Amino acid sequence: MTRATRALIDLSAVRHNLSVARKQAPTARIVAVIKANAYGHGMLQLARVLDGADMLAVATVAEALLLRQGGVHTPLLVLQGISEASQLSLAVEHDLQLVVHHMSQLESLEQSTLATPVKVWLKFNTGMHRLGFSVDKVESVFKRLVGCDNVANSPVLMSHFANADDREDARTVEQLALFNSTVRGQDTECSVANSAGILGWPESHADWVRPGIMLYGVSPFGDVHGADVGLRPVMQFESRIVAINTQPRGARIGYGGRYTCDSNMPVGVISAGYGDGYPRHAIDGTPVLVNGQRVPLVGTVSMDMICVDLRTQPDTRIGDKVILWGNGLPVEEIAMHAQTIGYELLCGITQRVEFVYSG
Ligand SMILES: Cc1ncc(COP(=O)(O)O)c(C=O)c1O
Repeated sequence: MTRATRALIDLSAVRHNLSVARKQAPTARIVAVIKANAYGHGMLQLARVLDGADMLAVATVAEALLLRQGGVHTPLLVLQGISEASQLSLAVEHDLQLVVHHMSQLESLEQSTLATPVKVWLKFNTGMHRLGFSVDKVESVFKRLVGCDNVANSPVLMSHFANADDREDARTVEQLALFNSTVRGQDTECSVANSAGILGWPESHADWVRPGIMLYGVSPFGDVHGADVGLRPVMQFESRIVAINTQPRGARIGYGGRYTCDSNMPVGVISAGYGDGYPRHAIDGTPVLVNGQRVPLVGTVSMDMICVDLRTQPDTRIGDKVILWGNGLPVEEIAMHAQTIGYELLCGITQRVEFVYSG
């Protein structure tokens, strides 16, 4: 018998969300970001359904190889590029495009002998201060790449936003101005927009957009949910009620006794906990859908279980279905109750959870 805790993945929602990205950025080409196991949704399955994107992006060469070994032929971009020179020949063999963000990667390219040149994306820093060449190096690095026999065509120029999820943040305006002034005069393609850029900063679209989180139906903005910007949730994380106990007034529920019952009350026990990827930091009152109705979490999340207050749902029975996030309960809302972001919750579903694909 399979366990009750499952992640249902709606592939038709992925296609819909890709079409939203296309509609928002109609003149740009799309790099669909499916790193980290497609934000926890299953990289191969998502790669297959996203074959309508112009390119797919992963973080590492190892992720790219998993896709190629899985029969994915879509153009592939490696966002961190190579981590050692020996990966260059793998990039050639498997037709990978590489981000070049550091002098060590440029030197590896210049010092290697490759069977065929690789296509590269030159990444520079406009304010994220994580990866990328400083703007004063871009012209010289670009020239070296163009002059390098191991590099194909013209490198794409790219940067990454640090704060675009806040539509009021002046730092994005500054990043964009620096991006535009740096790429001006270089006769090549450019890319800077992530999901927040696509949805909130149309002036950032350029030649290639790089949606990640929006493809999974989640809003990149703190103040709205995916549905508010026309997206459909892809993952539904669900389980079942495995016990219902009437607890007396004054009973303290779960580890540490965080929640104290203020009346005699039915408490439902659900077969999902942090061992499945439900966030341990979820506070009392975090909503859970029991038979489509919201009830509050009570007590600290355990490894395999959570408890809910069933006073408003007295007809609930053992075996009834529970939605932890998904349709009717955005993951953004759970993330807010657990002081994190939807990205982290989606990536955190664990191996013992059964994944069921449809659509
Ligand atoms: C370079 C780069 N581009 C695009 C994305 C996609 O970002 P988002 O998921 O916010 O759309 C990421 C994700 O972190 C990234 O690292």
